[in-house]
Amino acid sequence: MTSLTLRRPDDWHLHLRDGDSLRAVLPFTARQFARAVVMPNLKSPVTTVDAAAAYRERILGALPAGAAFEPLMTLYLTDATSGDEIRKAKASDFVVGAKLYPAGATTNSDSGVTAISRIYPALEAMESCGLVLQVHGEVTSPDVDVFDRETRFIDEVLVPVIERFPRLKVVFEHVTTRAAVEFVRSRRENVGATLTPQHLLLNRNAMFQGGIRPHLYCLPVLKREHDRQALLEAATSDDPRFFLGTDSAPHARHAKENACGCAGVFSAHAAIELYAEAFEQAGRLPQLEAFASLRGPDFYGLKPNTGTITLVRDQWQPPAVYRFGDAELVPFRAGEAIAWRIDDSRTS
Ligand code: NCD
Ligand code: ZN
Ligand code: ZN
Repeated sequence: MTSLTLRRPDDWHLHLRDGDSLRAVLPFTARQFARAVVMPNLKSPVTTVDAAAAYRERILGALPAGAAFEPLMTLYLTDATSGDEIRKAKASDFVVGAKLYPAGATTNSDSGVTAISRIYPALEAMESCGLVLQVHGEVTSPDVDVFDRETRFIDEVLVPVIERFPRLKVVFEHVTTRAAVEFVRSRRENVGATLTPQHLLLNRNAMFQGGIRPHLYCLPVLKREHDRQALLEAATSDDPRFFLGTDSAPHARHAKENACGCAGVFSAHAAIELYAEAFEQAGRLPQLEAFASLRGPDFYGLKPNTGTITLVRDQWQPPAVYRFGDAELVPFRAGEAIAWRIDDSRTS
């Protein structure tokens, strides 16, 4: 296959940051995706509908002229999130979910949830009004091995939540393990998962190839080849609950090339192209459209987009760095080949 036209895709898990950083990264996403769920873990997290409305306006204001892109917002859950705030979110026409960050699990999660029972009132409201729960699924206890944090989260947090709130729609974000895939498969249609390009393309060896590779460090951390194979099978299967969420998470180069480097891989510059490589590797390129453009809207109860994008098999190289406000941003596959590119002249 040398070209592939698909309905315009959406990104169901994206970090856009704010200010100059937002202006630097947003054009990459708007070029490919019609919509994206914009994660709320800003330095001052987006915990209310009013804050989400203001953030949404800043995103719209940062769009390049002529770009058509719709930010879908999500609230950052805290121990104090009320049922009223959840109902207000559901009543708005721009908040599609609320996000559970266990306190301390990842970037800007200090105001996150300290014990799952603290958000039972919010979850009850979400279940009854139909607002999607998105979860960063890792336990945070320092004595749990970093490679086991996702599987431990399934038993310790996810199962109790799903059993207590059986009608709650849950997205297990950026799944990284075979156990997580099997868990989603074992549940009903209201439990889905997003998958990132890096977890579909790489295993944890990539982080240590010839030395430590800080630009491949993200959370949850890359896992074994046996896990990657399960993720690739799930993404390229016919199961409607596995869909695209890049988790593109830009951090300044100096913050990653650091004695205590930040977690996050920036992939928005080449997201759909990277997924195309993964699907091609699995011999399932025709399934890319379902994964990227159909199943996400279906899970969230939205309509798929009407336009299309066309990918052509034509190798290119991302630059070593992009500008990122006053800093630099090192993209995924910096200076290395990517097999597919978007033919902008055939975007409709
Ligand atoms: C994300 C970020 O930098 O905001 N980092 C990451 O490694 N994935 C946070 C997150 O999605 O957990
Ligand atoms: Zn996360
Ligand atoms: Zn994320």
